Amino acid sequence: MRIYDIIQKKRDKDKLTDEEIRFAVDGFTKGDIPDYQMSALLMAIFLNGMDKRELTTLTMAMTESGESVDLSMFGALTADKHSTGGVGDKTTLIVAPIVAALGGKVAKMSGRGLGHTGGTVDKLESIPGYKTTLTREEFISQVEKVGVAVIGQSGHIAPADKKIYALRDVTATVDSIPLIASSIMSKKLAAGSKNIVLDVKFGSGAFMKSVDDAKKLAETMVEIGKLAGRRISAVLTNMDLPLGNAVGNALEVLEAVDVLSGRGSADLVDVCTALAARMACLFGGSSYEESLLKVKDALDSGKALNKFREWIEAQGGDSRFIEDRSLLGTAVVREDYVCPSDGYISHMDAELIGKAASALGAGREKAGDDIDHTAGIILKKKTGGRCSAGEPVAVLYTSDRKRLADARAYLDRAILMRDTKPDALPLIFGVVE
Ligand code: URA
Repeated sequence: MRIYDIIQKKRDKDKLTDEEIRFAVDGFTKGDIPDYQMSALLMAIFLNGMDKRELTTLTMAMTESGESVDLSMFGALTADKHSTGGVGDKTTLIVAPIVAALGGKVAKMSGRGLGHTGGTVDKLESIPGYKTTLTREEFISQVEKVGVAVIGQSGHIAPADKKIYALRDVTATVDSIPLIASSIMSKKLAAGSKNIVLDVKFGSGAFMKSVDDAKKLAETMVEIGKLAGRRISAVLTNMDLPLGNAVGNALEVLEAVDVLSGRGSADLVDVCTALAARMACLFGGSSYEESLLKVKDALDSGKALNKFREWIEAQGGDSRFIEDRSLLGTAVVREDYVCPSDGYISHMDAELIGKAASALGAGREKAGDDIDHTAGIILKKKTGGRCSAGEPVAVLYTSDRKRLADARAYLDRAILMRDTKPDALPLIFGVVE
């Protein structure tokens, strides 16, 4: 078998056999197939797509390229969630302890942020002492005792995806439904949970700009999950504007504590309760309505907040920040960004707001860059909000005053005004199951 022939076949819109797909993935992971040939194959897949069988084989080949986590000791109680990436997305910090408070077992691996999106691991690292690396034994034992453990993505999980993603990132082949679906699902399948809820985002801050594309991606991933024997559903959520009010690592951790304490912005609460209830439906077997009531009770009774504290402490974190917010540190520079004119905010571009937060120090330009955990943005107004000229729309936090100009330039482009109140877009567009 020759990789040249496989590239040619996909270039000419032919179907690849299972053997050809496995040959390409295994050969590239081992280093036998060079980057330039894999890049050509990825571009051919980007342009010509894959059918259901090809895609399932691609996903399984990537899943089996490394280790899989064995969570069989927890039976059908294991529940994982995955977000396709967004701005201000701190849902894992809220959903994981809610689900654990309801008896689910959340053994989760999360990623770091890159570009305009934040990563859960970076947010957790703003908590002093929190360990994002645990041994396998520590990880399993914490899930057993506490019900939740969240660590950084292990390099041993789906190494084929790691190598392929790095190529896609530099060859304009990231935003392809088959390639995103196989990338996400290979990691979720290897991570071992029986029940999986996907938060598939659409809008300006998401990979999928339209609801239709988000739905196609969700359907593709749900189909792969079912074929692999998992219970899975996907919630389509709006990422046209940031989720919640905080964008930036420590600021988002504090906003998560607000939600777990019964405060927090309505959009964030709605998305988190929907995701947690979908997870509870899968592992608990109750209807969505019953699950939602249980989720609300976990929040109202303080059980979810207690579980959050227990989780952070079990992973070495100093949980006193829950009462004393200053323990997460404070950015030395704090400046308002004000509304340019009277009117309504007609659009708040999530991607540009993510870039503004990155410019303040909250994100990375490239993998491995340092981040400033205290940097970021608190939004005082959201799309649809009324605003007078000079009124604060956002507060900018940074440790370096020189960073403010770039952040302001992004916000000038991100926040659009008009005279009349815009129609609100739905926050949760639907569910695929
Ligand atoms: N997240 C992933 O893990 N993979 C993709 O391809 C896109 C988003």
